[in-house]
Amino acid sequence: MEAATVLKLNGLAKRFGSILANDDVTIHLQNGEVLALLGENGAGKTTLMNMLFGHYLPDSGNIEIKSVNGDLVPLELGNPSAALAAGIGMVHQHFTLAENITAFENITLGAESLFSLRRNQRKAEKKINNIMSNSGLEAPLDIPVGRLSVGERQRVEILKALYRDAHILVLDEPTAVLTPQEADALFSNLRRMTNHGLSVIFITHKMREVLSFSDRLVVLRHGKNVGSMETSNASEKKIARLMVGSETQKVSPKRITPGGPILLLNDISVAGRSKRDSLQNISLTLKSHEILGIAGISGNGQNVLADLISGLVLPDKGSILLKGVAIQNINPLNMIKLGFGRIPEDRHRQGIVGGLSVSENMVIERLDDPLIQNFGFLRSSVINDNAQTLSEKYDVRGPGIDQASRLLSGGNIQKLILARVFEQQPEIILANQPTRGLDMGAASDVQRHLIEARDRGGGVILISEDLDEILGLADRIVVMRDGNLHDVNSSSREAIGLMMAGESV
Ligand SMILES: Nc1ncnc2c1ncn2[C@@H]1O[C@H](COP(=O)(O)OP(=O)(O)OP(=O)(O)O)[C@@H](O)[C@H]1O
Ligand SMILES: [Mg+2]
Repeated sequence: MEAATVLKLNGLAKRFGSILANDDVTIHLQNGEVLALLGENGAGKTTLMNMLFGHYLPDSGNIEIKSVNGDLVPLELGNPSAALAAGIGMVHQHFTLAENITAFENITLGAESLFSLRRNQRKAEKKINNIMSNSGLEAPLDIPVGRLSVGERQRVEILKALYRDAHILVLDEPTAVLTPQEADALFSNLRRMTNHGLSVIFITHKMREVLSFSDRLVVLRHGKNVGSMETSNASEKKIARLMVGSETQKVSPKRITPGGPILLLNDISVAGRSKRDSLQNISLTLKSHEILGIAGISGNGQNVLADLISGLVLPDKGSILLKGVAIQNINPLNMIKLGFGRIPEDRHRQGIVGGLSVSENMVIERLDDPLIQNFGFLRSSVINDNAQTLSEKYDVRGPGIDQASRLLSGGNIQKLILARVFEQQPEIILANQPTRGLDMGAASDVQRHLIEARDRGGGVILISEDLDEILGLADRIVVMRDGNLHDVNSSSREAIGLMMAGESV
């Protein structure tokens, strides 16, 4: 028997200025199905889901959704409350929880009036506990969300949608910030829920997830639906051909002999607020002509290490030596002047200023350069020419260089940051999860740039949760765990995985 259709997007279109973000997109979703929505950065995936959720009003087309009595009925467009009421839940590419209140409050606020919540607190708790045990998604309910791990926050986002009785759940790059183990757990929990009638659309750039966890996939290219197939008939090659029209070449660098040490972290400790913010007696040498891979499950001190090397955090003990000389003025601007380039993990908070234009963000780390600013005046023609050149060279696509950078798609924001860093040809590059959220082609481009920087004589510190990326690129690997670094003498995937998980090998 054919499963019933629960959702139909019919000929949806959306234009932003000169960009046709969605072009006559028709997609259907079956009951209990897990549908993967794929496409290059900027292909229009998030825009399509934002129309489904009522955030954007389509220019044309309509949406039909299954009602309580099982018929397909038109969904009121451009109205998030209507989408919620119709049973659509959305977990956004970037989290939307309020950090200073608890998970319980985040989940229930808005769904219940404050008055009824006070009376029915017990009932609400019971409902959440039921959802948690049916779905397998567990999270502490009574501490502020700001203190939860990324994985826990995401589970709260999903619980929030399920609390509102969503029967269609949309997840925009849900695993971009999860460890492989967390991602696997999430998908098996989703599968549990689809067995109870939930239908899921998820956006991802990770082929492994598409091939192991979806039932069917749809590919968008330049805003158009260019093909759909059952996952059982799909392969990485077929998908790549649909996404970009050709196969992407995997990057595999030639091995070269490293030069002398350029950066030395000497017995450094940082006492953070919690374990995940602390470093304990860390020493590390980076050589020229070397990519040093730092493997590890996130939350083991990687971000403090990155902040330290970027000058955002000062060591409580120990020193940083650049070519044998201790750096005195550790601050972000000075580090950039000394030849450090930084690709931050959190591109929204640390990478760009969303309200400033694309052109401005492309020079934001060198505002005191007289080429950019003269006697207090920004040289706008230089800044615009620079942005034009970099956008072409690094394939940053979006609504225009004079537009606010927050309007770029997730992956294109990352490309903007990469362009800014690579163009300065820094001697030392700190790359923290540089390919997260990038499509296959863009990820290969970044990897190629890192290799180029190395071949030019620079040193690269590559922090990545993607063990395949580390194994493919790094000349040397260390594992980070509990704020410490551990040398790796084996290149076996299993051995490194076990070290990451804290087992001695
Ligand atoms: N509010 C907006 N104003 C102007 N342009 C926009 C707006 N929202 C999206 N765009 C543009 O529409 C295009 C599609 O963006 P969208 O975010 O849907 O891409 P995506 O497929 O989700 O990409 P990614 O994989 O990078 O997240 C991009 O070129 C983006 O810059
Ligand atoms: Mg997106």
